[in-house]
Amino acid sequence: MPRTYLVTGAASGIGAATTALLREQGHTVLAADLEDGDIRADLATAEGRAALAARARELTGGRLDAVVACAGLARFDPLTVRVNHFGAVATLDGVRPLLAAGSHPRALVVGSVDAVHPTDPAIVAAADAGDEPAAAAAARAAVDRGEGHLVYSSSKAAVSRWVRRAAPGDAWAGAGIALNAVAPGVVLTPLTRPLLDDPATRTLVERAVPMPLHGHARPEQLAPLVAWLTSPENSHVTGQIVFADGGADAVLRGDRAW
Ligand SMILES: NC(=O)c1ccc[n+]([C@@H]2O[C@H](COP(=O)([O-])OP(=O)(O)OC[C@H]3O[C@@H](n4cnc5c(N)ncnc54)[C@H](O)[C@@H]3O)[C@@H](O)[C@H]2O)c1
Repeated sequence: MPRTYLVTGAASGIGAATTALLREQGHTVLAADLEDGDIRADLATAEGRAALAARARELTGGRLDAVVACAGLARFDPLTVRVNHFGAVATLDGVRPLLAAGSHPRALVVGSVDAVHPTDPAIVAAADAGDEPAAAAAARAAVDRGEGHLVYSSSKAAVSRWVRRAAPGDAWAGAGIALNAVAPGVVLTPLTRPLLDDPATRTLVERAVPMPLHGHARPEQLAPLVAWLTSPENSHVTGQIVFADGGADAVLRGDRAW
C-alpha cells in the first residue's frame, strides 16, 4: 500500500537516500529541508518548526503515515543541539496528530553512534528538561572551553533519551505509533566529507568509530533500515536505538549495554 512520508534533511545524504528509496517503493514523500524540497523550513527556529507542521498538515490533508527526522549537523556550535535535538523533537511532536490519523503510523529519528561517546551533562540535562535556551548556553560554554565536539554527542544522546522515554507512552505507543532511532556509524555524506578528506582527522574518526563490518557506509546502505522501521511490517520494534554502525557500538561498549 502506498504511504505518505515526511522526511526532514531530505536534500542531502541519508535523508536524500531515504527519500529516493521510499519514492522508488511507490510512496509519496514530502521532502523537507532548509532551502530545497516540498517544505522549506529552518528547524533551528520556532517559526521554521511551526511552518513545517502547518505545511505538512496542508499538504497531507491531515493524515501522515510516517515521519523521518533526519535533518542535522555536526558543527561545534549551539546550532547543533538546536537542530539535532530540539528540531527533531519538534518535528515529531508537530506531526504526531497527523500520524495519529495515519495508517500503521511510524516515527523515526536519525541519532548517531556518537551518543555513546562522552557528552556534556549540562547540555543533556537541559535538553531532557526541554529547556532550549539553557541547552544552547551550555553548548556555547562547551565550545568556549574548547570542548565543542561534545555538542554533537550530547545532542544525539539527548534525542536518543527522548525516544526511549517517549516511545512507550500514551502519545506514541498508546496511539499505535512506533517510535525509534537509527544510530549510524560513519556515513559518507557532506557532513563527514571534510573530516575524512583530511588524513589527520580521518585517523581520529577511524579510532573513535571503529567499523569492523564493511567500514564506512554509503547513505543508500542506511535507507532500507529506515524504510523498514517506518513500514507497517514493523509492528513491535519501538523505543529502540538501532545501531547501524558496522559494529562500532559493540566494539566501544562491549557487553555492557544491549
Ligand atoms: N554522516 C554520518 O556519518 C552520520 C552519522 C551518524 C548520524 N548522522 C546523522 O544523520 C543525519 C543526516 O546527516 P547526513 O550525514 O546525511 O548529513 P547531510 O549534511 O548530508 O544532510 C543533512 C541535511 O540536513 C539539513 N539541515 C541542516 N540544518 C537544518 C535546519 N536548521 N533545518 C532544516 N534542515 C537542516 C541540511 O540542509 C542537509 O540537507 C543527521 O542528523 C546526522 O547527524 C550522520
